[in-house]
Amino acid sequence: MCGIVGYIGQRDAYPIIIKGLQRLEYRGYDSAGIFLYDGETMHLSKTKGKVEDLKHKSETSIDISGKLGLGHTRWATHGIPNDINSHPHSSNSGDLVIIHNGIIENYESIKKALQERGYVFESDTDTEVLVNLIEEVKQKEQVKLGKAVQIALNQVVGAYAIAVFDRTKPDEIVVAKLGSPLAIGIGDNEYFVASDASPFIEFTNNAVYLEDEEMAIIRLGKEIKLRKIKDDAIAYPTIQELQLNIEEIEKGGYDHFMLKEIYEQPRAILDTYRGRLRVNQGIIKMAGIDQNLEKFLNANRIIIVACGTSWHAGLVAEYTFEDLARVPVEVEYASEFRYRNPVITDKDVLIAISQSGETADTLAAIKMAKEKGAFVFGVCNVVGSSIARETHAGAYTHAGPEIGVASTKAFTTQITILTMIALKLAKEKGIFSESRFHALLTELEGIPAKVEKVLESNVLIEQIAEVYKDSTNCLYLGRGYNFPVALEGALKLKEISYIHAEGYPAAEMKHGPIALIDEQMPVVVIATRKGHYEKVISNIQEIKSRHGKIIAVVTEGDEMVTELADHVIEVPETTEALTPLLTTIPLQLLSYHIALMRGCNVDQPRNLAKSVTVE
Ligand code: G6P
Repeated sequence: MCGIVGYIGQRDAYPIIIKGLQRLEYRGYDSAGIFLYDGETMHLSKTKGKVEDLKHKSETSIDISGKLGLGHTRWATHGIPNDINSHPHSSNSGDLVIIHNGIIENYESIKKALQERGYVFESDTDTEVLVNLIEEVKQKEQVKLGKAVQIALNQVVGAYAIAVFDRTKPDEIVVAKLGSPLAIGIGDNEYFVASDASPFIEFTNNAVYLEDEEMAIIRLGKEIKLRKIKDDAIAYPTIQELQLNIEEIEKGGYDHFMLKEIYEQPRAILDTYRGRLRVNQGIIKMAGIDQNLEKFLNANRIIIVACGTSWHAGLVAEYTFEDLARVPVEVEYASEFRYRNPVITDKDVLIAISQSGETADTLAAIKMAKEKGAFVFGVCNVVGSSIARETHAGAYTHAGPEIGVASTKAFTTQITILTMIALKLAKEKGIFSESRFHALLTELEGIPAKVEKVLESNVLIEQIAEVYKDSTNCLYLGRGYNFPVALEGALKLKEISYIHAEGYPAAEMKHGPIALIDEQMPVVVIATRKGHYEKVISNIQEIKSRHGKIIAVVTEGDEMVTELADHVIEVPETTEALTPLLTTIPLQLLSYHIALMRGCNVDQPRNLAKSVTVE
């Protein structure tokens, strides 16, 4: 995790680095630091806290001029978040400065060896060890910075995206990547380095994404030189034209990214199925599936791996694939799956779901499944991400950048893609009649308008939030397709408002959570008319009898649940398999408003990060 930014060129580096770090704060925000070089002097400023704190500290304590700079926003792994552990880190001589996203796993043994040879360390970080290892190599082998970085990286185990500056070679930055993302923006006699392209999007549309085990020497006035870290082979940069635009990564009038992204869902779902869902022709067109149809149709089973909210989307897909396409599905936490020595054969299809496309556990699960012969399909949002590149085929969700740490539009667009795959397989297998297939396509096409309708309940949801904002616990219940939605609703509440919340299959409530219910306990129940309606009503009765407070998400015009519940939020009628696309929305808004009323940082909840590139 962590975000890194670097600049070398003709402009003042400071504003570029600070703005870039603000855009990368989704990657971590417990401390931050900046390094600037003005041609003569090196300036370093670091602080615990957010980039805003760094800005304040830097502008009042260091000279912020300089046309070269490095910046870092941190999500602590080794060492608590404090000023000293913040990046950038300097080498013992003071000549080298480094920023690092990743983990050096064997740092302890290297640190011990360096200490025996006289090196001293200020911080508890693995990164300070790496910069001193580079320094030692450079001095011992009498080599230039690039070579020293390369030799040092061949001695470390772990993951990294690094940028290194050397005072004795002040017109260059050396960068390297393994496991963590690194993009180089190419401007007119200027270069940018960052964890993603957002810090430099207003300056250039041309970028090079480093591959794993590649490094680059970025020198002013010269073309970037790429080489392989392992064997020194020359690599040739592929310059990509970026599609990102500046509006997409700004709040566009909303108070928070999360709210903006919740409201973007009608558009995002439409962008997900645009060009793929062809209702008039009665087909779903998805190149990644079309080209590998036999793999899917002949699969013994589909294994879905993911983490967090993406795992919840996988759970929804388990219902959809089994119910509609009659394919056996297993949904796995990537972190458990990869270490479980699972039985995988070449008859398995593995679908990896990841918004960022960078989640370390999901990536590792993919690599393992590939080694064991499975066909691996990716569902990612970030174009060109590591998972998108590592999988045999895939489909992008096209949700646009998701910046709020709590995932919203990524979830609904993942469900949209997965539903389209299930529908397509069902059609190919001859499970559906033409007319049923056509009806389902038409229904899916109408979902964005129905999501718009749900969003109209925002004020009502805000009022409900007001009533429950001081709760300490909350239960979320759902059945069938809406059980994963209950899990997702609970996750949203706990991650941004810090209220303990649990999602449960409604019928399982009797086997434990019912003991928690009293008059203080809000219970959010998804009780749409399709899918186990009567059974959910029985569960609601059980809660009522114990004086629990019921917030129910119901189908428009509902009478039975409305009579029982303390609050109801209506969603339009749709086919059961598509209900998660509607029932999720009120739960996102509820957690948003509660978190806001409790004074929580909605977009950057404590201890979390958007992109989890460590195990
Ligand atoms: C982090 C984020 C979650 C996300 C999960 C998986 O925990 O905070 O919002 O669901 O990672 O991320 P991915 O990018 O793989 O979907």
